[in-house]
Amino acid sequence: MSSYPTLILTTNRLTLRPMTMEDAADLFAVFSDPAVVRYWSAEPWTSVSFAKDSIARALENYREQSDVRFGIELLETGALIGTVNLHHFFPQNRRCEIGYALGSPYWGKGYATEALAAAIDYGFHELRLNRIEADIDPRNAASAGVLERLGFRKEGYMPERWFVHGEMADTVNYGLLRSYWDARRRA
Ligand SMILES: CC(C)(COP(=O)(O)OP(=O)(O)OC[C@H]1O[C@@H](n2cnc3c(N)ncnc32)[C@H](O)[C@@H]1OP(=O)(O)O)[C@@H](O)C(=O)NCCC(=O)NCCS
Repeated sequence: MSSYPTLILTTNRLTLRPMTMEDAADLFAVFSDPAVVRYWSAEPWTSVSFAKDSIARALENYREQSDVRFGIELLETGALIGTVNLHHFFPQNRRCEIGYALGSPYWGKGYATEALAAAIDYGFHELRLNRIEADIDPRNAASAGVLERLGFRKEGYMPERWFVHGEMADTVNYGLLRSYWDARRRA
């Protein structure tokens, strides 16, 4: 995507921005929590070096324009409370996927919905995407809630797609078209 500028998106309560190594401790707090990775095919991080590697990869992907991973900063405190990323870009087809996580102390306050709305708006209106996809575990009700609040539609089901903490796990596929997004904004 040729139009990646330095990215800072602001919402009422949040700043979405590229991460720096100074975020490593906060990022580690998010992904070392077993509750956060409950539905991921990855184990909780066990040392802050995982966070440093992840930030280095995010910055590299950002430079290569292959992935945009925002750190979500809470304006009130300046803490990094999670991440949202646009990844798996197919520029020819104007689509990508979205991924997200918040630290568990920040669940239930609407921050994920607020952050994703800003990232989606950026994807559709700055990157000129036409479609954003998400792939979630059917047991992950909180994640489904965020997507459905934002207008994603359930499009498919793929059994036993992931190996998650010792068991096979299914996928529910969600999709959001720019036309759905713009229609909701107009309504
Ligand atoms: C998925 C995840 C980000 C959802 O977090 P969340 O806190 O449920 O989502 P939001 O931040 O949008 O908050 C929505 C909740 O806050 C409530 N809320 C409180 N104040 C609110 C406000 N000002 N605005 C909007 N919602 C508010 C909503 O009613 C809703 O609660 P409900 O689900 O009981 O109806 C979180 O569960 C998470 O990080 N999970 C681990 C990682 C993960 O699974 N990621 C997805 C992988 S696909």
